[in-house]
Amino acid sequence: MHDFDEVVDRGGTASEKWDKYGDRDIIPMWVADMDFRSPTAIVEALRRRTEHGVFGYTGAPPELTETVVQMMQRDYAWRIEPQWIVWLPGLVTGLNVTCRAVGADGDEVLTLVPVYPPFLSAPRHSGRGVVRVRLHEESNCWSVDFERLEASVTSKTRLFMLCNPHNPVGRVFDRCELERLAGLCVSRGIVICADEIHCGLVLDPDKRHVPIATLSAEVAQSTITLMAPSKTFNLAGLGCSFAVIPSETLRRRFLQAKAGIVPMLNPFGYLAAQTAYTQCEEWRQELIAYLRRNREFLAEALPQMPGGLSMAPVEGTYLAWIDVRQAGIDEPVGFFEDAGVGLQDGRDFDGPGFVRLNFGCRQALLQQAIERMTVALKARFRGLSS
Ligand SMILES: Cc1ncc(COP(=O)(O)O)c(C=O)c1O
Repeated sequence: MHDFDEVVDRGGTASEKWDKYGDRDIIPMWVADMDFRSPTAIVEALRRRTEHGVFGYTGAPPELTETVVQMMQRDYAWRIEPQWIVWLPGLVTGLNVTCRAVGADGDEVLTLVPVYPPFLSAPRHSGRGVVRVRLHEESNCWSVDFERLEASVTSKTRLFMLCNPHNPVGRVFDRCELERLAGLCVSRGIVICADEIHCGLVLDPDKRHVPIATLSAEVAQSTITLMAPSKTFNLAGLGCSFAVIPSETLRRRFLQAKAGIVPMLNPFGYLAAQTAYTQCEEWRQELIAYLRRNREFLAEALPQMPGGLSMAPVEGTYLAWIDVRQAGIDEPVGFFEDAGVGLQDGRDFDGPGFVRLNFGCRQALLQQAIERMTVALKARFRGLSS
C-alpha cells in the first residue's frame, strides 16, 4: 500500500507549486500537480536508467507504443493503430500544435468556458479567434448549453476544443452529451481536439471515461485525442504525452505544424510512462480512493464555513471548483492567501467569482487549509456583523 499521508518536502526541487509564495506561510493548492511521490515502480525504473549514465537522443520505445495500443483496447475498447500515435513533450504543446494544424489565420475555435487557460491562449497564439461558450450552471451543476453552442458556430468555425474530464468544473461528460457534441461537430465539418489528460482520474464509481473518438469511426476521423500519464501518476515534470490521430490527413497536418519547433522527448518521460501504464494500476486505485476521501472531506467542510462557499461535484480530477460569489469578497485569491491558503483565480479560467482548489495532497494539509479558510471567513463575517 502506498502511504499517501507521507510528508514529502518539496523544498529545494524548484517546484513551481511550492516556490510560488517564497517565504510566506501559504499552503499551495493552485497548479495541478499532486504532492504525492510517484509509484515506487516508476522511481525504481528511473533510478536504474539513471545508473546507465548515458542520456542521448531517445525515440519512442516500440514497447511503449504497443502498451498504449493495448491500453486503449483494454480500457475503452478502442482499437487504434500504432502509427496513429504522435508523441509530444507536453499536452499543452499538443493544444497549440492542433490550433496551428487546423484551419487558417482568422478562423475560429470553439470552446466551453470556464476552462483550463491554455484553451484560451492556444488559438490566439495561432492567429485564430476563440469563441467562448459558457457552460450552463445551476446549483453548482455544470452542463453543456447545446443551444448556445450551436448558435455560436459560424462559417469560420474549424475546431472545437473539449476538455474531458473537465478542468476546472470536474465534469466527466457522459455518452449522451458526447454524442451530441460529436454530432454537432461532424455535421458542421468541425475538427474536435479532445484534451483527456485527466482520464485516469475519474472519482465517481458510477462514471466512466469515454474518449469522444470512440463514439464512431466517423467521429474518430475528425478527432485529435490528447492524453498523458502525467496527471494520474504525478509525472508533469517529465514531459511525456501523446496524440492519437486516426485521420491520415489530420495527422500529416499535425506533424507539419510541429516540425522543427517541438523537441524530442527525454528518456525518463518515456520510461515513466511505460512503467505507469504497465505496473501501477494498483497505485492508481489507491490514489483514487484517497482522492475520494479528500473530496468528501472538502465537500463536507465548505458548507460549515461562513460565506456560503459551495463546490461543484468533482466527478473527475483532483480539482475543486468553488463558488465564492455569495461571500462578496472582491479579491478571493488575495483574501485566502492572506489566510495562508494559495488558490487559483477563477478569472484565469474565465470563471470570475470562483476559485480552484487542488486537493491532491496529504489529508492533514487539506485539513489545515480548511481550518485556515474557516478562521479567516469567521473573522471576516464577525467583523461585518459587528
Ligand atoms: C486539462 C489539462 N490539459 C493539459 C495540462 C498540462 O499538460 P502538460 O503539462 O503536459 O502540458 C493540464 C494541467 O493541469 C490540464 O489540466
